[in-house]
Amino acid sequence: MENESKHRLAVIVGSVREGRFGPVVASWVAEQARSHGGFEVEVVDLAEVELPLALPAMPPKLAGADYPRPAGMAALTAALEAADGFIVVTPEYNHSYPAALKAAIDWHFTQWAAKPVAFVSYGGGAGGRHAVLHLENVFSELHAVTIRDGLAFPNYFTAWRDGRPLSDEPAGYAKTMLDQLAWWSGALRAAREASPYPA
Ligand SMILES: Cc1cc2nc3c(=O)[nH]c(=O)nc-3n(C[C@H](O)[C@H](O)[C@H](O)COP(=O)(O)O)c2cc1C
Repeated sequence: MENESKHRLAVIVGSVREGRFGPVVASWVAEQARSHGGFEVEVVDLAEVELPLALPAMPPKLAGADYPRPAGMAALTAALEAADGFIVVTPEYNHSYPAALKAAIDWHFTQWAAKPVAFVSYGGGAGGRHAVLHLENVFSELHAVTIRDGLAFPNYFTAWRDGRPLSDEPAGYAKTMLDQLAWWSGALRAAREASPYPA
């Protein structure tokens, strides 16, 4: 597939914690997406973004293009704006997802609307599924389309070695997720180009 016909995919590293495992998972996910062939992949690491918790007075939904974001957030905003679809890589913190990820979500609105979002989670016994359930709710408020098939890695500390899962099965699940994400990325991009989404 030529580059211009590929879907632009942002793989978001949702954890910014010191000593985090998130970049290992995100890098493997990005590798799966690149070898899938349907995507032009960018890894977006929230640890590199200026992400204050205090938001401006006006919600981004109402402020539109004039929303006053910090200079250190510009690269994130541009990456989200350009993306046709997203994979959010998230750990589970106290049965939900990290605060930095919520901040990144809340600082934006149109950048998510009418675009597909898939999830890859990891954690203890539940594999981060609680975090994903919360994220699905949040993204539906942002008019995003959540992808049914994602990946969850329970007890990742024993299930991964040298930057990859010990089992071959996750690569198959990743293919299913990426096929669905590619379909929605193309369908929603065409729909957005045909007429502006009425968010
Ligand atoms: C504040 C905090 C809360 C956590 N809560 C959960 C939890 O509710 N469920 C779970 O499976 N793991 C939980 N964990 C363990 C994380 O899944 C594990 O530390 C993982 O490595 C976090 O991802 P990260 O290394 O990318 O930050 C928690 C970790 C932290 C730091």
